[in-house]
Amino acid sequence: MARHLITSALPYINGIKHLGNMVGSMLPADVYSRYLRQRGHEVLYICATDEHGTPAELAAKEQGVPVDEFCASAHDAQKAVYDGFALAFDYFGRSSSPQNVEITQHFARRLNENGFIEERAIRQVYSPADGRFLPDRYVEGTCPHCGYDKARGDQCENCTRVLDPTDLIEPRSAISGSTDLEVRETKHLFLLQSKLQHEVEEWVARHEEEWPQLAASIARKWLNEGLHDRAITRDLDWGVPVPADTWPDLAAEGKVFYVWFDAPIEYIGATKEWADQDPENRDWKSWWYDADATVRYTEFMAKDNVPFHTVMFPATELGVREPWKKVDYVKAFNWLTYYGGKFSTSQKRGVFTDQALDILPADYWRYFLIANAPESDDSSFTWEHFTATVNKDLADTLGNFVNRVLSFSKKRFGEAVPAGGEPGEAETRLGTEIATLLAEYEAQMEALQFRKAAAALRALWSAGNSYLEEKAPWLEIKTDKDGAALTLRTAMNLIHLYAVVSEPFIPGTAAAMRQAFSLEEDTATWITPDEARALTTVAAGTPFTVPPVLFAKLTDDDLDAYKERFGGEPQPA
Ligand code: MF3
Ligand code: ZN
Repeated sequence: MARHLITSALPYINGIKHLGNMVGSMLPADVYSRYLRQRGHEVLYICATDEHGTPAELAAKEQGVPVDEFCASAHDAQKAVYDGFALAFDYFGRSSSPQNVEITQHFARRLNENGFIEERAIRQVYSPADGRFLPDRYVEGTCPHCGYDKARGDQCENCTRVLDPTDLIEPRSAISGSTDLEVRETKHLFLLQSKLQHEVEEWVARHEEEWPQLAASIARKWLNEGLHDRAITRDLDWGVPVPADTWPDLAAEGKVFYVWFDAPIEYIGATKEWADQDPENRDWKSWWYDADATVRYTEFMAKDNVPFHTVMFPATELGVREPWKKVDYVKAFNWLTYYGGKFSTSQKRGVFTDQALDILPADYWRYFLIANAPESDDSSFTWEHFTATVNKDLADTLGNFVNRVLSFSKKRFGEAVPAGGEPGEAETRLGTEIATLLAEYEAQMEALQFRKAAAALRALWSAGNSYLEEKAPWLEIKTDKDGAALTLRTAMNLIHLYAVVSEPFIPGTAAAMRQAFSLEEDTATWITPDEARALTTVAAGTPFTVPPVLFAKLTDDDLDAYKERFGGEPQPA
């Protein structure tokens, strides 16, 4: 059994995230973590809020509260939504934690000792209208590479290229829109990434073959453009302070590290936060330090995050010259669109995670999102597709099967799994099919191919329906009571199997299904294809109850109401 370290990109502190954010990082990481835990692996799933940077400062200002208070309550609000989605983090930390401050400052000192940090006077965009230096992402303009006219000074969202604010054509302040921008001189710390180019290239070359194409190609593109030295400090009140012991001048000026410098380090920081809650039993360093031989590290993120995770953070880790764990596998996602257009936090278009949970329980969303994850391409959320999928896969194929089997059996045989009948040809055939599909499901999960895993799971559910239609116990019972008992008992074993293997996708429903049977203990411990083949885990005589309807069927009225509330029209590209 391996030790699996899993992280999902840290959600920015400002604002509740939309479904696109959810499917591109936290949800698949949760599905994968749950699966590995069920298989008996040791798993540590870490996430946190990404709290520094201008967006937090500005959001706090807008609400008229101090930025630390804003972050504390925004963190709790996000955590509550993730609990609602049943995200089973081992720890959900905060990048503003003292642990992250300490480790970030340590990284900076080590990089400095190793000759990878330099103090440079730079000319920075200053906006007289706003009375401040503008951080990179608060300068907007036209991307010199692709012509996108809302490119930010740090990165073009459209072509994902990393930019410098001075690269932008017709730059303007994103705060006030002012085009009256000047350039003034100030001192900053630079990370000399150019010196690390060669090492990063070698490191990427050793890993990219294993990475999915999306991650590997973005890393390559970035390396081919060449690693540039980057300023890693900013003029802000909120952030990890530049340590005064090493840079007294900059510390005196109140400079803090750039949010993209401290955010990935928070993967480590949050692990320490986790360990500090129970230091006797938790060892954060064993996950991160000198852990190459013992830990497998998988990261989840949307494609705009790939350069930072495949090139920039590894460069930092390499430059520290200490054996910090680097990522083994990068699972990157394309975009989930809303009717073909962008989900937009700022324009409030699309479905936000808190609204989603207002409408329907988490499992509806979890299943739909993962079954349609934007893996090989962008995928589009529409209410039509969502309601049709819920009705067909969850309500009909799974939910109805469970209720039909249990209600019918209760009516004819009472509240225990019926005895009688000997498995015959149909059961052997079913067992073989189930074992094959389960092996396929396992293989797709191991390969982190979530859509294909969902398809295999759906096929497992369908196999039960076909068996039930074929055996038709409601007819069988008229002539062969033992035969009907065998059919129902076999179907109940399928229900129990579904309850175990559906857990990563729909944990709430899976638990309800398991609890329908009073087994000695409720365990989601995996059932292997060979064990599944026999379909006899739940023995005759086991008491059961009929759970309430697992998935409500969504009506045309529901569909209309959703579209009315959220707007269900295609957006111009
Ligand atoms: N907050 C960033 C985003 O939402 C992701 C940060 S990931 C980390 O795009 F590695 F920096 F932590
Ligand atoms: Zn561009």
